[in-house]
Amino acid sequence: MAQTIGILTSGGDTPGLNAAIRGVGKACLSHYGMRIVGIRDGFRGFMEKRTMDLEGDALSGILTLGGTVLGTSRDKPHKMPVNGKLQDMTGVIVANYHALGLDGLVCLGGGGTQKNALRLKQAGLNVVTLPKTIDNDVALTDTTFGFDTALGIATDAIDRLHSTAHSHHRIIVVEIMGHRAGWLALGAGIAGGADVILIPEIPYDVGLVAQAIKTRRSKGKPFSIVAVAEGAISRQEFEAQQLSSAKKKDRKPKEPVAEPELVYAERTLRLAHQLEKLTGLEARVTILGHLQRGGTPSAADRLLATRLGTAAADLLQQGRYGVMVAARGEASEPVPLEDVAGQVKLVPQDHPWVESARGVGTNFGD
Ligand code: F6P
Repeated sequence: MAQTIGILTSGGDTPGLNAAIRGVGKACLSHYGMRIVGIRDGFRGFMEKRTMDLEGDALSGILTLGGTVLGTSRDKPHKMPVNGKLQDMTGVIVANYHALGLDGLVCLGGGGTQKNALRLKQAGLNVVTLPKTIDNDVALTDTTFGFDTALGIATDAIDRLHSTAHSHHRIIVVEIMGHRAGWLALGAGIAGGADVILIPEIPYDVGLVAQAIKTRRSKGKPFSIVAVAEGAISRQEFEAQQLSSAKKKDRKPKEPVAEPELVYAERTLRLAHQLEKLTGLEARVTILGHLQRGGTPSAADRLLATRLGTAAADLLQQGRYGVMVAARGEASEPVPLEDVAGQVKLVPQDHPWVESARGVGTNFGD
């Protein structure tokens, strides 16, 4: 009998999700003759048994679309707000999996989704995942789809900010998404030629950033672009965090903390204000926000999402479950969910991108 596969997208949306849904779906349907059921709005929709027909023409014309035709949510199976309370809905999801006649489930998501998928595997479901996020912080995969598109958008923004910063002799502080990881700010900062790049993995000293800007001015460059990752943090604040977490014994030392967006924005505004005071130059702030996640996926993301999506279908056909399809060079590789879940891929301080940026004179505030 033909296998029936469920597919859902979970966590923040990402350009390339529709390309991946199409890749999984077309390969399952046409290549392997399976049945495919779309599950709406991530684990929330799974708990509520809301589905979408992906057969017929549903997978046509979505390759180039941003967002996800399935909808998404940040809900977790084991901690879902229901009737005003956080409840463990894993049992309901498992029951719905069987009620829908599913033989396998493909979950498209970032780090959180890998953890949730592992829990469902442990509850007995046949799960395969794909790594998506603009943050590029999923462990054990070369990269994630969505990252390349966001990198292009953030780089384009830095390019555009250059001319206005130059005209007004200003500092422009541009905040770039990435949550706890600095990949996006680092990549876009290098590609856009930012003068300063601040990432969570390298806590900064604002005095050193100001000094770098003043040195530029003394060399006849009275404007500067500061690319700051959402999670970037000053040394002082980082040390205070380390102290408090050591007291609470709640976190591995030296790991950046995930904060709400408002905290990121407050830090970015404070940084711009401090730089104004320390340099005597005017500063302006641009927060790129969700622009970085919107719109048409890049060619590289469509290609990656299609490659990983069709590889997921191959694994389902072989009955290889409990894995994430990782990008490995030109190919892909299944990695056990146990190895991926709970891991974050941060920027190593001596990563070649950091070294290259330093090579062209970029300041990291350290
Ligand atoms: O993980 C992707 C991401 O865009 C992060 O870069 C950002 O911190 C977060 O999601 C924003 O989340 P939300 O869309 O829920 O506001």
